[in-house]
Amino acid sequence: MIKNDLLLKALKGESVERPPVWMMRQAGRYLPDFMKLKEKYDFFTRCRTPELATEITVMPIKQVGTDAAILFSDILVVPQAMQIDVEMKPGVGPWLPNPIRSAKQVEEVVVPDVNEELNYVYEAIKMTKQELNDEVPLIGFAGSPWTILCYAVQGQGSKTFDKAKQFCFQEPVAAHRLLQKITDTTIAYLKGKVKAGVDAVQLFDSWGGLLSPEDYQEFSWQYMQQIIDALKDEIPVIAYGKGCWFALKEMSQSGASALGVDWTCSAMNARYLSGGQITLQGNFDPARLYSKPIEIKHMVTRMIDEFGKDRYIANLGHGILPDIPVDNARAFVDAVKEYQAK
Ligand code: CP3
Repeated sequence: MIKNDLLLKALKGESVERPPVWMMRQAGRYLPDFMKLKEKYDFFTRCRTPELATEITVMPIKQVGTDAAILFSDILVVPQAMQIDVEMKPGVGPWLPNPIRSAKQVEEVVVPDVNEELNYVYEAIKMTKQELNDEVPLIGFAGSPWTILCYAVQGQGSKTFDKAKQFCFQEPVAAHRLLQKITDTTIAYLKGKVKAGVDAVQLFDSWGGLLSPEDYQEFSWQYMQQIIDALKDEIPVIAYGKGCWFALKEMSQSGASALGVDWTCSAMNARYLSGGQITLQGNFDPARLYSKPIEIKHMVTRMIDEFGKDRYIANLGHGILPDIPVDNARAFVDAVKEYQAK
């Protein structure tokens, strides 16, 4: 039994004394102790060494006091396991030297044995679960197939992912074959995470909002739905789509336990579009953590008032920014913990 089960209760839709709180990208990025490890070990060494992944995962629990841990890893370990080269260039971000641009390249992409290629993630989960000692739940995650395709085809980060879209619209058959390979790998990968001990999983569709509502259905949502279908009876699934407010209705009928929303959608609209019954997660603007701690606390209280304390997980609307002062992150978390329902 997990001692702090606020997140699990909120995912089941049960009433809670206050909402649970965690922050997307809380493991790493802004904590000074993480920066020190970053100087010593390159990115994939941190991901591949269970001791390091564990240490980074528990840092925000000890130092900021969130109600859940999220495993330190990256969405791009999945394409890496599929034999697509992925590097992390300091100061640049993801860098794929051989981006996928043809049907022939898609055929060469492997659906791997996840137990072989991603065993290091499962080892990190087991070690982290021991270290957490059932204090708080552990969240596992994966990127959505569309978001992974974005990097696999574009070859690097982008504001528009124009080359990824070009590939989908000019070579739809090949694009769908790639999306299906990523989907099959992701399902096996997440089932392995469940077996290794995670308590919930989140799907990150970080670039879903770049698609039109119609293209979103075709190139992103149908694959998210396959993953949710495969996992929903085993574990609570949180579906997060940045900029995907237009899809909240389908998402609310998918079998996901909660839906992530960003700050461009008001709590009222998100509740309305998602039908008012499903647990929602979000949606503080990560840049609002630059405000003074006292202002952050006021805004967080208002956010909870608007979403309501039940069927709600307090979070940011996207990942925490790397230069946020730790005190401001703490103000965000403390404000949720101090929340008193009116
Ligand atoms: O809470 C956590 O931080 C857990 C670990 C985590 C990382 N990446 C570590 C990381 C998680 C949940 C992710 C998800 C991820 N990775 C997403 C989806 C969420 C989102 O932010 O939209 C995406 C799109 C990626 C791809 C990725 N990885 C990018 C664009 C970058 C570079 C820019 C950056 O810092 O986010 C990464 C590198 C990365 N992943 C870092 C960390 C801590 C920074 C590089 C480093 O530490 O050396």
